[in-house]
Amino acid sequence: MIVKYTFGNPFPTDAVIAPVNEGENQTVFSLRREKDGILFERALQADEIVYGLGETMRGINKRGGRYVSFNTDDMHHREDMPSLYGSHNFILFDGERKIGAFFDTPACVTFSIDFEKSGKAEIFCEGGNLNLYLIESESAYGVAREFLSVIGRSFLPPLWAFGFGQSRWGYKTQKDIQRVVRGYEKAGIPLDYVCLDIDYMDRFIDFTVNKKRFPDLKSFSAAMKEKGVRLVPIIDAGVKIEPGDPTYDEGVEKGYFCVNEEGKPFAAAVWPGMTHFPDFLQPQVREWFGNKYAILTDQGIDGFWNDMNEPSIFHSEYTPRSQKYPANEKYRERDYKRFFHTVDGKKIRHYDVHNLYGYLMTRAAGEQLQRNIDHRYLLFTRSSYIGSHRYGGIWTGDNASCWEHLRQNMLQMPSLNLCGILYAGADTGGFGGNATRELLLRWLALSAFTPLMRNHCMIGMRRQECYRFSRAEDFKTIVGFRYRILPYLYSEFMKAALTNDMLFKPLSFLFPDDERARGIEDQLLVGDSLMMTPVLEKGKKKRTVYLPEDMTMVRYNREGFSCSQAQKGETTITVNLNEIVFFIRKGKLVPVGNGGKNTAEIDLNEVALLGDGKIYEQYLDDGLTKDCTLKNVRVLKK
Ligand code: GLC
Repeated sequence: MIVKYTFGNPFPTDAVIAPVNEGENQTVFSLRREKDGILFERALQADEIVYGLGETMRGINKRGGRYVSFNTDDMHHREDMPSLYGSHNFILFDGERKIGAFFDTPACVTFSIDFEKSGKAEIFCEGGNLNLYLIESESAYGVAREFLSVIGRSFLPPLWAFGFGQSRWGYKTQKDIQRVVRGYEKAGIPLDYVCLDIDYMDRFIDFTVNKKRFPDLKSFSAAMKEKGVRLVPIIDAGVKIEPGDPTYDEGVEKGYFCVNEEGKPFAAAVWPGMTHFPDFLQPQVREWFGNKYAILTDQGIDGFWNDMNEPSIFHSEYTPRSQKYPANEKYRERDYKRFFHTVDGKKIRHYDVHNLYGYLMTRAAGEQLQRNIDHRYLLFTRSSYIGSHRYGGIWTGDNASCWEHLRQNMLQMPSLNLCGILYAGADTGGFGGNATRELLLRWLALSAFTPLMRNHCMIGMRRQECYRFSRAEDFKTIVGFRYRILPYLYSEFMKAALTNDMLFKPLSFLFPDDERARGIEDQLLVGDSLMMTPVLEKGKKKRTVYLPEDMTMVRYNREGFSCSQAQKGETTITVNLNEIVFFIRKGKLVPVGNGGKNTAEIDLNEVALLGDGKIYEQYLDDGLTKDCTLKNVRVLKK
């Protein structure tokens, strides 16, 4: 049962879209009204697990941490970092009672979950205006399913978006892109898309293409598509102040930008220099901005990534130029309090609705892409809120080439799924810092299971394309694995989306009575049949795995798949750098295909079935159709 309780006068977020019963007095939390907000408190049992909070640091069990929902561009993802790029205010208490709570407010929310051993969950909602949705069910998984059923279906990316993508901030010209594609071709490593970072634009002006660097994007993208490689350009939130540029001119003329205290377009610096921020809270602005993507879709582009949409501000008309990227918290907050949105003729302070900005930019793009192109599109965003999953996926921002961030990538997946975000992934290999061969191979072995599998790296860092490292055949094996497991991954993703399920589940969701399974965070269930057990530590070839039941162990390497039986309990596996080991649950099957050098070569019909199950329900379609329903599921028998 899900019930909605309203406090104050909440700003509508459209996060929950299904009708929900309203209640008067909730008893899950005790409540303290304070001057600047409401504090919700709840005592935690000693062994109660607290899940959720989407894109946050620490782990699957959020106990012991303090998390601040306030979308933030800061690349220093330390373990105790309170805020990242997205805000996903859904938490799930798995104690004697199984309770889900969604604090639906676009303002700042602080979750202190047994922080400093308080033994309590303390949730402070700034402003005190929110809808609180409470769900109670028999099981934690039941609560999750119910929550997912009210926030709407995940965005459905095309099949090619499940291929491997290469990206780097620093690719400037068409030649750079061709070189990358050739590098992958020569090494025989599959590739489906290359991302275009800000340098493809004319002076970082949205919806422009630098003609010197890309003289004819339309022919170039067609030629690349011929090879099975798509181009995926970036779009930034800030529109450069550039009289003569149609986006700028129209935005000013029509009053489509956020305004400062004087009612003039607010000016803040991002990559292009001074910019204005489109006021995505206005539906007509979303439609206008979203339709601009057609400038690129008309040139054969059908995938985008939306960036800098917290929105990120380097400095502004109010804060000094000396501020470096990212501006420190104090200045950022000051800026967010001094610019405004216009909703139904009323001025709304940005600070109070801050967490909606990236979501609504994604909605702007997603709604119009959906209308303007006749097949599925790829879209992922950096900043998000619950609800943005209906329009696009996310990537988890500017991580670093370190082992802790590899681990973090894995830990965030079930938490994101719990908040509706199915299509997600991290910068494989790490954005900042210099990836080693070992780290990149291990990271690819993990990303091989995440829907978004993209190698992305920061300008100035060591080149991170797979073919640049020694013994490229190992990369061919690991990336090649993704293309062999794709029939399963694609099918499980689509079924999860169509049935409001998670793709990544903690073991405890399926084995709730197994004490040991309840504490495990470095193994995850992926879909209905598979358990992933990646190596997450430097220099390690062995790792311990806990099996909550007898399973089939699958080893993949250059020779292909080999299966053996594994007994319930603890086992140690050896996984070389050029191998992947995973497990298949008892009585289940995993369809695998023959692979290919890109998804266009994959035949989803041609599969072999691994595991000891009898049937597998495979979702399959042409990878582009918008007609995605469960009628596309066929039953395979072993
Ligand atoms: C931001 C993005 C990063 C991108 C860079 C340049 O830092 O998070 O992915 O490469 O901007 O556009």
